[in-house]
Amino acid sequence: MKDDNFLNENNARHLWHPMAHPGAMQEHPPRIIRTAQGSSITDSDGNTVVDGVGGLWCVNIGYSCTPIQEAIAKQVTVLPYYSAFGGTTNEPAIELSYELREMFAPDGMARAFFTSGGSDAVETALRLARQYHKIKGEPTRTKFLSLKKGYHGTHFGGASVNGNNRFRINYEPLMPGCFHLPTPYAYRNPFDETDPKKLGDLCVKAAIDEIEFQGPNTIAAFIMEPIQGAGGVIVPPEHYMPEMRQITEKYGILLIADEVITGFGRTGDWSGSRHWGVKPDMMTMAKGITSGYFPFGACMVSEAFAEVFEKGDPDAASIFHGYTYSAHPVGAAAALACIRESQRLKINETAAARGDQLFAGLLKLKDKFDVIGDVRGGHGLMCGLEFVSDSAAKTPASPAMLKAAFEATYEAGAMVRIGGNNLLMSPPLIIEEAEIDTLLSALDVGVQAAANA
Ligand SMILES: Cc1ncc(COP(=O)(O)O)c(C=O)c1O
Repeated sequence: MKDDNFLNENNARHLWHPMAHPGAMQEHPPRIIRTAQGSSITDSDGNTVVDGVGGLWCVNIGYSCTPIQEAIAKQVTVLPYYSAFGGTTNEPAIELSYELREMFAPDGMARAFFTSGGSDAVETALRLARQYHKIKGEPTRTKFLSLKKGYHGTHFGGASVNGNNRFRINYEPLMPGCFHLPTPYAYRNPFDETDPKKLGDLCVKAAIDEIEFQGPNTIAAFIMEPIQGAGGVIVPPEHYMPEMRQITEKYGILLIADEVITGFGRTGDWSGSRHWGVKPDMMTMAKGITSGYFPFGACMVSEAFAEVFEKGDPDAASIFHGYTYSAHPVGAAAALACIRESQRLKINETAAARGDQLFAGLLKLKDKFDVIGDVRGGHGLMCGLEFVSDSAAKTPASPAMLKAAFEATYEAGAMVRIGGNNLLMSPPLIIEEAEIDTLLSALDVGVQAAANA
């Protein structure tokens, strides 16, 4: 590796970063993260901080998982790549498909289609959903419903069902036939309803109204995150997803649970759908499947869904979709090791316990600081702090306030993530009690900085 002078001189000069302005990156180059261990990261200036972000909601197992490291090293030596396009496959992919079926059988999942990440998994789900209806003789079912504030990645399909306009506007026009429903976000909603149960009921009614308006036989699928992540950790009331399951079933609409963040233990359960007692038709997965050690994702489908394809006419039911890296042997080996370690360490249980600790600490911070308008979480290790400049008027805090909070939190020992006017937290699920305390004390300093900004 070149020396620090070279790295600093070339940082962001020839590399455009996701979700950033290229010019601003050149003016204020991003921090170089050099090493990581357990739940901590170390930057090139030698600062070590608790990673309150888990990389990007993904390093569930932490940074020191030797079994994954060894599985990758071994597989890259034995078979670094071979195509999985019809005709050839590889050993780890076969084994992984079996393990995933076992792991997600309680959610009704039966088959996996492998991808290179979450956006690919969402794209796969949307395409297969349309094809499913075509095979069944209902070709008019092409539309998609999704929730405002939802995040489903950045491919054109995923961006079209995304519910945050900052990921949409610069890329419009997006895909036609995508319609957005109100999300049960109790702090801000068009109904001015703060009671979560009543708000959930209103959102369900709005969904029915939209389905009736569009015509149920024009709708292919409804996609939702069991808990919305990037949109600000928006937790629906517990009846919302089960009722939406009943409604989608009644109208013949497929339910796609986007489990890219919520899968593999983050909510305290192995899937977000299971957390709410729902069996969807399809699930999209990525992130925690390899804990970020290798880019990998999956779209899983139910037995009934699979049957339509498997018994369908080859012309209609062949899958003309897939990626060069679908079922990548190194990714599959990483996923196998990751899943085994996740189950052995019961990281879903630590997510629940540490998530309760983090949420309780954040609620205390809210009592202390007026700039915190809302605290969301309480379901595993995903939490959000929403910042306001005027708590009575709920005026969203300025980007400068968020930046002040972010920087001061980092200086005080923890990495967090800015998303709109929220600070978001999704640490590794193996994080220890004392590290959550460090995260909370660093946030105390950070929130004070926002209040002073
Ligand atoms: C719920 C959800 N779906 C899809 C994606 C897209 O995944 P990727 O960034 O791996 O393409 C994300 C990424 O954060 C996500 O949170």
